Amino acid sequence: MGFTMSLNFILLLVMVATNILSLYHLSSTVQSPKPPLPAPVPDHLIRQLNTIRATINHLTRHNPSSASATAKPSSAVPLDLILHSQIGPIASSCHNHPDLLHRYMNYTPFSTCPFDPDLQETLILNGCHPLPRRRCFSKTPSKLPSSLPLTPFPTSLPDSGVIWSKYSCKSFACLLQNNPTSFDLDAQRSSLLKYTSELDLPISQFMQLANSANSAIRIGIDIGGGTGTFAAVMKKSYNVTMLTTTMNVNAPYNEAVALRGLVPLHVPLQQRFPVFDGTMDLVRCGRAVNRWIPVSVLEFMFYDVDRVLRTGGYLWVDRFFSKAVDLEKIYGPLIGKLGYKKVKWAVANKTDPSGLKHGEVYLTALLQKPASKS
Ligand SMILES: *[C@@H]1O[C@H](CO)[C@@H](O)[C@H](O)[C@H]1NC(C)=O
Ligand SMILES: *[C@@H]1O[C@H](CO)[C@@H](O)[C@H](O)[C@H]1NC(C)=O
Repeated sequence: MGFTMSLNFILLLVMVATNILSLYHLSSTVQSPKPPLPAPVPDHLIRQLNTIRATINHLTRHNPSSASATAKPSSAVPLDLILHSQIGPIASSCHNHPDLLHRYMNYTPFSTCPFDPDLQETLILNGCHPLPRRRCFSKTPSKLPSSLPLTPFPTSLPDSGVIWSKYSCKSFACLLQNNPTSFDLDAQRSSLLKYTSELDLPISQFMQLANSANSAIRIGIDIGGGTGTFAAVMKKSYNVTMLTTTMNVNAPYNEAVALRGLVPLHVPLQQRFPVFDGTMDLVRCGRAVNRWIPVSVLEFMFYDVDRVLRTGGYLWVDRFFSKAVDLEKIYGPLIGKLGYKKVKWAVANKTDPSGLKHGEVYLTALLQKPASKS
């Protein structure tokens, strides 16, 4: 049946790759002359192959979307492991895309890496994260910017800090023109400071709220933070260090954040935050977090936010949008389960054409994490 065939195909690819790896291995350790082909497969590679085969068997047995769906999952497998393995990375997710992974690892060691940022991001978004390391030199822009900005709000970002070849825009001026929502840094700053409706929580007001609750704000994470303007304001006005998670979807967001002297984290929404439990003063979810994210991904994400926040730390949900009925029935209760103190909870109709059409609302919330119950 199809399932067995695709498993065999994976195994075939694994075998081919293992052989290619063994050839690499031989050709990079034996300087010259090259050994005659084909080389016999050494014992340790056969053992590796057996391990890979066992891992694949193990995973497919525990994957309810495969042909074994009707089989009752073994009681030893926690349900949340099965659920999470369908939406996010566990160490083995790279095996789900052997073709992409093989393309990614098909390079000449110790020379220049292939220029494949799109391939990397595709793998990462499919759960292959972290990507394997490679022993090659990543391509850099051909010349160094003559100077790097020393402020997070420079008059312009240096174009020479980016390899533009894969983008239709070839400069930050072009991005400013075509994508002002993300690249008009001053307009973004104004929108973070203004108060024009109850959906707004100006940064100055947030800092006052935290201050009057005796809660120091020093470090945090901005999820889906685009070009990093939230982190920029927090750094410039309050000396707060924010990490910004961002992906390079159609624009060099990571480079833009870094060129502003801020820290870009190249991790997708479904990835566990790479910081320790109970360490962050603030986690903010901008508009990248919305109803287009599958509910179970959101649920795991909010619980990971809870993991990294310290007691008394804040979860700030900025203009989350969903259908009004879903906010009431799904997302409200989901956030409510965290048991946080509601410092602010504002809901208002989303009045753009698509919002009106789908009966959507915005939620802006500021929630404070209580001490653990036990
Ligand atoms: C930020 O830190 C610098 C250097 O320690 C200090 O001079 C400045 O006053 C601080 N700014 C704010 C807003 O706290
Ligand atoms: C929001 O929209 C709903 C229906 O879509 C409507 O019944 C309600 O009056 C609106 N609320 C406001 C404050 O405009």
